[in-house]
Order: sequence, then C-alpha cells, then structure tokens
Amino acid sequence: MESHAVSPARKQHVVCVPYPAQGHINPMMKVAKLLHAKGFYVTFVNTIYNHKRLLRSRGSNALDGLPSFRFESIPDGLPETDVDVTQDIPALCESTVKNSLAPFKELLRRINAQDESPPVSCIVSDGCMSFTLDAAEELGVPEVLFWTTSACGLLAYLHYHKFIEKGLSPLKDESYLTKEHLDTIIDWIPSMKNLRLKDIPSFIRTTNPNDIMLNFLVRETERAKRASAIILNTFDDLELDVIQSMQSIVPPVYSIGPLHLQVKQQISEDSELGRMGSNLWKEEAECMDWLNTRAPNSVVYVNFGSITVMTAKQLVEFAWGLAATGKEFLWVIRPDLVAGEVSMVPPEFLTETADRSMLASWCPQEEVLSHPAVGGFLTHCGWNSTLESICGGVPMVCWPFFAEQQTNCKFCCDEWEIGVEIGGDVRREEVEAVVRELMDGEKGKKMREKAEEWRSLAEKATECKRGSSVVNFDKVVKVLLGE
Ligand code: UDX
Repeated sequence: MESHAVSPARKQHVVCVPYPAQGHINPMMKVAKLLHAKGFYVTFVNTIYNHKRLLRSRGSNALDGLPSFRFESIPDGLPETDVDVTQDIPALCESTVKNSLAPFKELLRRINAQDESPPVSCIVSDGCMSFTLDAAEELGVPEVLFWTTSACGLLAYLHYHKFIEKGLSPLKDESYLTKEHLDTIIDWIPSMKNLRLKDIPSFIRTTNPNDIMLNFLVRETERAKRASAIILNTFDDLELDVIQSMQSIVPPVYSIGPLHLQVKQQISEDSELGRMGSNLWKEEAECMDWLNTRAPNSVVYVNFGSITVMTAKQLVEFAWGLAATGKEFLWVIRPDLVAGEVSMVPPEFLTETADRSMLASWCPQEEVLSHPAVGGFLTHCGWNSTLESICGGVPMVCWPFFAEQQTNCKFCCDEWEIGVEIGGDVRREEVEAVVRELMDGEKGKKMREKAEEWRSLAEKATECKRGSSVVNFDKVVKVLLGE
C-alpha cells in the first residue's frame, strides 16, 4: 500500500520540526509519515513539554518510534510544568525565537556525530519555527517550510507588512475596533476578493506597535523567503488562485493536502507507522460508539480545537442555544476551554439534554467528522478542523477565535459556500436559529451539497499517483533530495 514513487533507500535523513501546538503537530506528523513511506529516515522533534505530554496522553511507549523513525526533543524556553494546558501562544512564539536555535543546533550536531542514522540531509520545519533556517543554512542542507494554515490565511499574513506601511495596523486606538472600521474593504491583496479588515488574521487588530504576534508574523513571513520551498495543507482545486498569487512573493509553494487523506491512501492504519499518533489529550473512543447509534446526518458536532478559550457566559449561551435546537449533539469541552475557570455547563442543561447528547473532553476528530451520523459542525475554523470538515462533506457554523481563523471563516462562507458565521458575542437565540438552519434549513441543504462537492475534489487531489497533491508531494521530495 505504501507509495514508493521516489525511493532514496533511507540514506536521506529528514528532521521534522513542528510548532509546539496541536494544530501544527498533527499535520507535521502526517508529512513525516509520508516522507518515511517514501524511504526517508525521520527524526521528529517536539518540545520537551509536548514530548512529555505525548507520553502521558498516549502511553509510555508512544514515542519509541521505529528503527528509522525517531523522536527527539528540545526546550521551548518556557518555565517547566507537568500540567496539561494549552501554552500561552505569544509567550511560546517569543520564547522559541529566543531560545530554541542553540539546542536545535546541538541536537543536529549530536545526530551527525553518531553512526546509528544517516547524517541529516534536509529539514522540514513549521513556518513559525523559522529559527531552523539558520541551522539548515549552516549545515548546507535544504529546508522546506510547512505553513499549517490555509493558503488564504498565509497570503494575508504575507501582506501584514503592507498593513503596517498603509497605517492600518497597529490601530491608532481602541475606538478603531468598531464594526464600521472593521468592515473597511481590503481590495489590494491579489486574488482575495471582498475582504473586510475583520477577515484578516486577527493579530493586526492591536493597538500596540510592539505586539508580539504582529511582529512575530511579520518576521516569520519575511524569513520564509529563505526556504527552499513552502508546503501547504490544502489542495489546488480549493485555493489555486491564492496559491498562484503568492508564488511571486515566496519560494515555490506546493499544496500537498488534505494530508490526512494522503496518509489514508498511502499508509495502512494497522502498520506501526499508521498507528503513531500525535494527540496531546487522551481521546475518548466512546464518542464513536455513541455516534454509531445515531441516524445519518442527525448529529451536530461541536468542538473549538486546542487553543480557543471563551468566557463562562459564552459557554452557557452555546449550551442553551444547542439545547433549544432539540437536535442531538456531540460536544467536546476541553478542561481549559473557559479562560481561568473550570469548564462547566449548567447541571439543568445536562439533565435536559441527557438523552440526546454526548459530552467529551477530547475525541478522535478526523474519525468523528467522517462519520455518517455527523450532519453539521460548530467550529472555530482552525485550519485542520476546516479541512477535516470538508473531507467529511460536513457544513459548518463558524465562530472564529483568532489567528487566520477569521480568513478561513470568510472563505468558508463566501468562496466555498460551506459555512455560515455566528456573532462573536454568542447569543443563545442566534445559536439556536443558525444551528437549526444548518441541520434542517434550505441553506443548510445547499451547504451540505457544496461540502460534498469539495469532499470529492479533495479525494481527487489525493488519488494515488495522479492527484495534484500527490504529484506535488513528489516534487517536494525532489527539493528535499536537493534535485
Ligand atoms: C490552530 C489552527 O490550526 C490555526 O487556525 C491557527 O493558526 C493556530 O492553530 P487549533 O485551534 O487547535 O489550531 O485548531 P485546528 O487547526 O482545528 O487543529 C486541531 C487539531 O486537533 C485537529 O487536527 C483536530 O483533528 C484535532 N482534535 C481537536 C482532535 O483530534 N480532537 C479534538 O477533540 C479536538
């Protein structure tokens, strides 16, 4: 089943470095598996914090790997803790920039000093871990940067410096955060139509010229120009215009997604490679048993990914909105979903919906979204969630939280016609109305049909040997081989 279109007979050694957050580790793991299936020796480098978390969530032998697929770890520079929480993203960005290059170089030196593996011949690193470029250049090996965002999200990030030049960011003061100002049309990013300021990745909406995330994204997108190539977890039919319009700004960009479909096509789930997982939380498999008892398209699936936080009031509004729909739902509530508090839904809500709901703290989401019982997805529009929803043919209610989720939401609603947005403040009446429309309404039906169309195009893109993403992946292999 494994594809061997290009087989360098494991003399090539790729080091894969994800950004240390769930939405980045998952897709990087898939790239690593595909490269291993192509014959590469793989070293997968987590941060020490995530390395320990993976051992806790997946068991003490979870990172034993294979003889030619090894796990290593480097510090993220933040104070050590054994508590399983979503780390503070700005602090993590600032810290990895400052602290991770030296231990990464030391790791490469250590790997190259021993005989057990071939010398490091290439690096695939997350676009937000661009310090790795310095090490690759020093070693004289090619580095491919993996931006785990949508192409539309990356293209918007690539224009951040223009927002600053044009005086649109940072905002002069808080009074610019009005709906009117945020509706300002942005019509000067090539191939992005009818965007409003609010659709641009959230970090430009700051009043602080020293904002960590704003400056981090400007820096990382500028440094991306030094990569040998850029890879994106998307497919040409979905985002070709956007991909083409970034080709003149950055090194060659290859769409290689949806990665989880490529992996499904090429790597047996029962093989040791197939079984390697990357979830930082323990998955509750009971969700699948529960879904198996439900009728096709009957369940609303609710999950806001690994980073989103909300207020206790927003959680309660979502709860009563969902209850009022009368629909069955699977709701994943991470223990740290509510900022600064334990995530608790009202006890009366639990009693009222007990016979038609399943609550969990983490689930096997790819499987959930491809289960026939799931008819709609209430999501924060994280890029992995969006792609997984597309591949399941599942339409969405979009409640974007941060980063490029706003851009993903805009494209889901207006370009791909598979989503409908819900207001940021969360009112139970609106949750009820929008979810009902999604599940039973005319608009929901149209979005489901459209999602089905995208699903079949995603499958076409990952078809063995011919799919555009499969062909592109082989081109990326050539870049990594230095050809
Ligand atoms: C985010 C987003 O990718 C992106 O918008 C932004 O750039 C920063 O990182 P996250 O918010 O976690 O990540 O969302 P998402 O991209 O959807 O990734 C979550 C991953 O965790 C997905 O692969 C999903 O399948 C998995 N997951 C999530 C589970 O397996 N189970 C769960 O219960 C929840």
